[in-house]
Amino acid sequence: MTAIATASALSLPISLCRSSKLNNKKGVRGGFRVFAVFTEEGGVEKKSSWETLFDVEDPRSKVPQRKGKFLDVNQALEVARYDIQYCDWRARQDVLTIMLLHEKVVDVLNPLARDYKSIGTVKKELAELQEELAQAHRQVHISEARVGTALDKLAYMEALVNDRLLQDRNATASDQTSSSPGTSSESLSVKQRRSPRKTLNVSGPVQPYHPRLMNFWYPVAFTADLKDDTMIPIDCFEEPWVIFRGKGGKPGCVQNTCAHRACPLHLGSVNEGRIQCPYHGWEYSTDGKCEKMPSTRLVDVKIKSLPCFEQEGMIWIWPGNDPPVATLPSLQPPSGFQVHAEIIMELPVEHGLLLDNLLDLAHAPFTHTSTFAKGWSVPSMVKFLTPASGLQGYWDPYPIDMEFRPPCMVLSTIGISKPGKLGGQSTDQCPTHLHQLHVCLPSSRQKTRLLYRMSLDFAPVLKHIPFMQYLWRHFAEQVLNEDLRLVVGQQERMINGANVWNWPVAYDKLGVRYRLWRDAVDRGSKQLPFDKTM
Ligand code: FES
Ligand SMILES: [Fe+2]
Repeated sequence: MTAIATASALSLPISLCRSSKLNNKKGVRGGFRVFAVFTEEGGVEKKSSWETLFDVEDPRSKVPQRKGKFLDVNQALEVARYDIQYCDWRARQDVLTIMLLHEKVVDVLNPLARDYKSIGTVKKELAELQEELAQAHRQVHISEARVGTALDKLAYMEALVNDRLLQDRNATASDQTSSSPGTSSESLSVKQRRSPRKTLNVSGPVQPYHPRLMNFWYPVAFTADLKDDTMIPIDCFEEPWVIFRGKGGKPGCVQNTCAHRACPLHLGSVNEGRIQCPYHGWEYSTDGKCEKMPSTRLVDVKIKSLPCFEQEGMIWIWPGNDPPVATLPSLQPPSGFQVHAEIIMELPVEHGLLLDNLLDLAHAPFTHTSTFAKGWSVPSMVKFLTPASGLQGYWDPYPIDMEFRPPCMVLSTIGISKPGKLGGQSTDQCPTHLHQLHVCLPSSRQKTRLLYRMSLDFAPVLKHIPFMQYLWRHFAEQVLNEDLRLVVGQQERMINGANVWNWPVAYDKLGVRYRLWRDAVDRGSKQLPFDKTM
């Protein structure tokens, strides 16, 4: 599922804004917007005025000097920057040329001036101008091709940055390979030069979870779903747990297995803040202590329990062995948003695969053709723009901000425009927004408990429409099903040895960063990449 799950719902009356960044790029490709400057008399000022609009310094005198056969990162960046400057200048020159030629054509055809010229002279002048115009158009096509190449180069450099990150990660593995018998360092370096692209290796059955991954606060349920007498069974890191409210209404989380004969406790009931086993009636408090054993003498028995708290409408647990960190993270939508839907789904895929999917937007026009991305065109370039050390950024050309929040959360804000309009705006510039939270709880190595919360900063009335919850759920499921069949297929192949991150490209940046983070966790690294808290 992309992070725009229920944007599908909103495709009824509204559509997404479109980022201005794409339009800018298209501007370079498809022609400049030209402003005519009107005088007080209403006529168009002569070329001396609008020529200044094209008065941009010719960058050709600043061609970066290349030393040696290969460029280092800074030199390559300098070349890319020069290319863009040159393209900008060239495009302005092309437009200027065409405008001047156009003006000449108008002069030639001017009926007052024409009186003094023979038809033959006019025809000759027009033919010359036609040739000059054709030449100018050829130049535009060349510039267009150059812009395309410059953009490809930039995308490639972005990929290099990703590769660099991957390279750092693979450094240890490479060292080991180079020291192994039969692999000379020379042949390794040749091999690396021939195939500079490094890949992540996410293949084979999911390995047992590293204890480090458990040492986080995990949201597991919505407060609204936990009444005084309800029990919520969850699987977390391959262990069954049950959430219920203890004395005073405080939530607790105990193992969902009775100490007596391993009966599931969630099939029982909650009495006076204790969960009662449905088999022989043993009753446990939220700290796991058995406080009642009907029909026999009470003995000292305790089942496992986890630290459990309630915050901002969600129930959180700490499954790890380390002492829990003092502060629970905040996952609230930004101010001005109202929560409209809270949905839980149990999904038959490993949580990392689901996160990979949620952190990817480039698949939308191919996968979500029956829901929110119906009719979307495929952009010439999709990018996730983010600082080098960040896990948050925005999607170009979509008006969508996105963040991966460790250990398993995705937050996204989607700009929405008016019906039928593709406003050229970034997320901030869009008038209305949809905010989403996806929590992918690792239930087991092939199961995820997904918590989905959707908020809007408009249409508060929707909250009061009966059965709206069911509609939101229906829309979310529709979108998710479009993804699930693909992710389930990936999972099957992954288990059989295929690498689901075999060939990352520029738009996979956020997914790759998640995998780098996850990989560091799985290796037990103390210093996690991109972690603001470290
Ligand atoms: S199995 Fe739970 S009380 Fe017997
Ligand atoms: Fe999707």
